[in-house]
Amino acid sequence: MQFFVDTADVAAIRELAELGMADGVTTNPSLILKSGRDILEVTREICGIVEGPVSAEVVATEAAAMIAEGRKLAAIAPNIAVKLPLTWDGLKACRVLTSEGHMVNVTLCFSANQALLAAKAGATFISPFIGRLDDINLDGVDLIADIRTIYDNYGFKTRILAASIRTVNHVAEVAKIGADVMTAPPEVIRKLAQHPLTDAGLATFLKDWARTGQKIL
Ligand code: G3P
Repeated sequence: MQFFVDTADVAAIRELAELGMADGVTTNPSLILKSGRDILEVTREICGIVEGPVSAEVVATEAAAMIAEGRKLAAIAPNIAVKLPLTWDGLKACRVLTSEGHMVNVTLCFSANQALLAAKAGATFISPFIGRLDDINLDGVDLIADIRTIYDNYGFKTRILAASIRTVNHVAEVAKIGADVMTAPPEVIRKLAQHPLTDAGLATFLKDWARTGQKIL
């Protein structure tokens, strides 16, 4: 499973990329706001840090304007994936932009039927939002499983990008199901390394090592 980092924080992306933990990046208007940076400038900088896809989201809501914005974003770098909302106009824009050879990430997906439409429109990625479904007492992980089944039934090539990941358990769950990619904030990716038994075991080893009186270096 590929790891994308869900942030426009350049320092965090750089740190994770150096560790091999950033196969790509996803941004959205809220994350651009949080970064306090100009969208074109920060997106260009991110595209220079990671080799994989960097999602940059349009803000127009009508197909022709989405296409124009998408072309401008795609011109930033060859690894841009134009992010479009899962609306009828977004699907129209998806069709046009993918036919021009651009990567497209269809976002704000909350149902299996929406994911089916995105695949038929030729999306490169579909982004089902797990955490936001959990927020309203629905099961976001179940949606990933449904989309996996549907895409595999028909051989759709659209890649499942599990998004709105809030917990470390989400990561393991979508990996078991076979999501192609997950995107999570840097703090969730860092937490994947944590386990209380690792901490306790290390403390014991260090205590015992001190009692040997030895040094390795
Ligand atoms: O990739 C989509 C993601 O940014 C949404 O996450 O936590 O705002 O629902 P969240």
